[in-house]
Amino acid sequence: MTTRRLINVGRLPPALEARLAQSYALTTLANEPDPAAYLAAHGAGFDALVTSAAIGVDAATIAALPTLKVISNFGVGLDKVDVAFAQGRGIAVGYTPDVLNDCVADIAFGLLIDAARSLSAADRFVRRGEWPKGAFPLARKVSGAKLGLVGLGRIGRTIAQRAGGFEMPVRYHARRPVEGVAWAHEPSLLELARWADFLVIITAGGPATRHLINAEVLDALGPDGFLVNVARGSVIDEAALVQALADKRIAGAGLDVFENEPNVPAALIALDNVVLVPHIASATRETRQAMADRVYDNLQSFFAEGRLVSAAPSA
Ligand code: DGY
Repeated sequence: MTTRRLINVGRLPPALEARLAQSYALTTLANEPDPAAYLAAHGAGFDALVTSAAIGVDAATIAALPTLKVISNFGVGLDKVDVAFAQGRGIAVGYTPDVLNDCVADIAFGLLIDAARSLSAADRFVRRGEWPKGAFPLARKVSGAKLGLVGLGRIGRTIAQRAGGFEMPVRYHARRPVEGVAWAHEPSLLELARWADFLVIITAGGPATRHLINAEVLDALGPDGFLVNVARGSVIDEAALVQALADKRIAGAGLDVFENEPNVPAALIALDNVVLVPHIASATRETRQAMADRVYDNLQSFFAEGRLVSAAPSA
């Protein structure tokens, strides 16, 4: 049997690359001195492509691979994968949903509690030796506070379940009410922001949600409200957020994602009322292993049975 040809255009964990190299003839595009020239000269003949959520794959790259049959994405986010273009050419697209729900929900709560109770700021206070000089300022109680979710997909539902343990009333905003859930649907994002003490963003990225959270939404959240983003940086107008935090028009924020990763604006770094982490929501050994397994299993299942374990929804 001929070994299928697989091209890696993303950034993958080394153990996954090694595993893929055992089953496929693997080419890692980043190792080529001139990736564009390589694609132009050698694009024909590849059966499969792997990428990662942060890098994705655009239409031009897909078009340069005329024999491509399947794409396997390391991550649940498909905002950087041109799914519509791929599916339009009959290319199957796989991704890694479900296996990261717990870890992303955990980080959402970690950021929420840190922002509300000022854990990171209090840590800095102790390290600066300020405790002997006076008490740390009072913070915001989390238990029982109102949680507004923007998005109620699989991860959103996991966050909402976590909120039950904190006795937090939950409402969510989504384009349509989600069937079979007890949480209240709020058709107006502004109303949700007005109602919520904590607004957690867990909606898909991409053009449809770009800058959904703008100055108006932040003002509706108000000076006692906190924002948490575990979705994509593009969903928030980052300049408007910096201004709202600096002016104390919202109380604080916890951010895992940014508009121009890995670059975090200096104006955000200068603020004490925001917790900043480097896109680590799924970054535990257990979850990254499960994601790597799904990337591999998607390819194996596609070639053995003609179907993916986790196929991207039709774009
Ligand atoms: C995803 O899966 O899309 C995450 O953002 C990557 O950790």
